[in-house]
Amino acid sequence: MRLFTSAPLITSSFVLALGLAACSADTTKPSETTEVQAPVVKIVKDDKFTYANYDKVRMTHLSLNLDVNFDEKILDGTATIDFKTIDPSAHTLKLDTKDLTIRSVQGLASSDGSAGKWVAMDYTLSDKDEVLGTMLSIPFSKGMNKVRIDYRTSPTAEGLQWLSPEQTAGKKKPYLFSQAQALNARTMTPVQDTPAVRITYDATLRVPDGLLPLMSAEQGGKDADGEYHFKMPQPIPSYLIAIAVGDIKFKAINDHIGVYAEQYILDASAEEFAETPLMEASNAKLYGPYRWGRYDLIVLPPSFPFGGMENPRLSFMTPTLIAGDKSLTNVVAHELAHSWSGNLVTNSSWRDAWLNEGFTSYVENRVMEDLYGEERALMEQYLSLEDLKRDIAGAARPELTHLKLPADLAHPDDAFTQVAYVKGQFFLMFLEERFGRTEFDAFLKGYFDHFAFQSITTEDFIKYLHDELHVKNPDALTSDELKAWVYGPGIPATAKNPQSDAFTNVDAARTAWIDGGVVGDTSAWSTHEWLHFLNNFSETLSKEQLEKLDADFNFNGHQNAEIAFAWYMQAIKGNYSKVDKELENFLMSVGRGKFIYRLYGALAGLNEDARTWATDVYAKARPGYHPIAQRRIDLVFLIADAKAKAKAEAKGEVEVEVEK
Ligand code: BES
Ligand code: ZN
Repeated sequence: MRLFTSAPLITSSFVLALGLAACSADTTKPSETTEVQAPVVKIVKDDKFTYANYDKVRMTHLSLNLDVNFDEKILDGTATIDFKTIDPSAHTLKLDTKDLTIRSVQGLASSDGSAGKWVAMDYTLSDKDEVLGTMLSIPFSKGMNKVRIDYRTSPTAEGLQWLSPEQTAGKKKPYLFSQAQALNARTMTPVQDTPAVRITYDATLRVPDGLLPLMSAEQGGKDADGEYHFKMPQPIPSYLIAIAVGDIKFKAINDHIGVYAEQYILDASAEEFAETPLMEASNAKLYGPYRWGRYDLIVLPPSFPFGGMENPRLSFMTPTLIAGDKSLTNVVAHELAHSWSGNLVTNSSWRDAWLNEGFTSYVENRVMEDLYGEERALMEQYLSLEDLKRDIAGAARPELTHLKLPADLAHPDDAFTQVAYVKGQFFLMFLEERFGRTEFDAFLKGYFDHFAFQSITTEDFIKYLHDELHVKNPDALTSDELKAWVYGPGIPATAKNPQSDAFTNVDAARTAWIDGGVVGDTSAWSTHEWLHFLNNFSETLSKEQLEKLDADFNFNGHQNAEIAFAWYMQAIKGNYSKVDKELENFLMSVGRGKFIYRLYGALAGLNEDARTWATDVYAKARPGYHPIAQRRIDLVFLIADAKAKAKAEAKGEVEVEVEK
């Protein structure tokens, strides 16, 4: 099926126009950023995970002035908020807060009699909602456009992890890092905490001597008074506000890319991530220039609950990526790609999370293909697709497997399954295949340009796709095919089936191993091949098999966290307790959710002994985990315990019946 033969002239002029538009922006030097105004477009309120009345009154800038107080584990100071009245009949600014102590609110008028003077303001706080937190309502008079809130955070704020010196690698100084996505910016500062609202921000921070503070912003450095200054001149959603404070060192990779980390892992991190400049070049070649000035990475302590987090100008990364062989750097490609998909063009509600994560997974894979070849890209597609199938099989209801998530989504966490990531990615791969790579690349470049610094819905994307691509190639796809991807469940029939020759060989090796035959030379296998090998035993392995597997390939305590994890999952399934020591060590030293949620889940679901063992390990490990991970794993055990209890009761009833 070739689609462009019918209208070649229209198509090429369309592509040309986009190419020119993107070229003019190419002149921006990477280390410079300019102030960008968020476009004042009318917003329909479609995010239910915020108290903000952002369709009526919208904040535009946040200015933080905070003490980072390690003794009390609090951020303490003021948040000054600039806002705009969109609906002239609205007279209340509604903000999200969670576990904040509000001490006072002041207001500044620009145009009435008291112009230029801060005045005390009345405010109200709602009851606390477990998900949303507490609404801070500030009634204001006409002409007022600035409020200053004097506040402090809670030591148990979910968005902040405070590590004692003993919990760090260096053991001498404490550490703080934040995680605002999805709903935790409001545990750090009062804010309109919705991705639909974009704000610029600046910050002044005071930290104890000898600690370096960093934010997702231009690092303005330390002034004569010892205060640190930060500035984010481009409008971003609140979930991208980020802070890290610790005994942090820096190593440059090139003139605008570098790594921050604790000393123990600094050199290894710079080495592991040495190809980040190539990734940036590849990304920019495909989708237009990097628009954020510097791009730095920070390797956080092991309790960081994610693989990576795309905080602008400063991606936060887990140390489990430092494998020594650059085999896990697709996560860097991913977080960097968010500089286009997510940070530049943002989902306007968490129901549209695939616009962030699906686009980013697609871009990530294109960059991996560009730099390391098609085979690696195919292997990564294949591994991702298996994760997607598992998530779809485990979905609580079919609507949660739609790209456009249902209006009654209970929590934004439920939006971040492999559906958003991988179904989203495969949808874009499908579009690429139907429209052709050249046209689709140009389309996406135009998309990032067209919606730059805006927050959009799935429907905005579909309209843009229709206007810019589909009308010119009406036969490329049918609306039923499109609907199946966006508003339908599961994996559509039109999805690509990635085939990797390398994996076909691995399948043969696995079969040979199971049959006790000759496995062949595995010395050149990549991490991906080992993962495929481990993930695809169709039967639960016996203890003897697990023993032999470990003897043959040395998986126990493997230094590559992905391989170690895949091995422990097999070992747990086979109830193979010889891994207990290494598994406990893993659970005690790694806080990355992707691994530990599933390990605890598998242990808690296996049998009573395993559940008891896991409960004990968790009791020891829990204080070191991030609050986000603690909440999730508490839930894992709650559900597993309830299931076990129900099962025991059901069994008890049966026995009683039998006795009668
Ligand atoms: N933005 C996400 C992390 C996230 C999602 C934080 C939802 C909070 C709520 C980040 O870009 C991400 O997707 N990280 C992945 C890595 C990626 C290669 C799939 C991760 O952490 O595993
Ligand atoms: Zn992501």
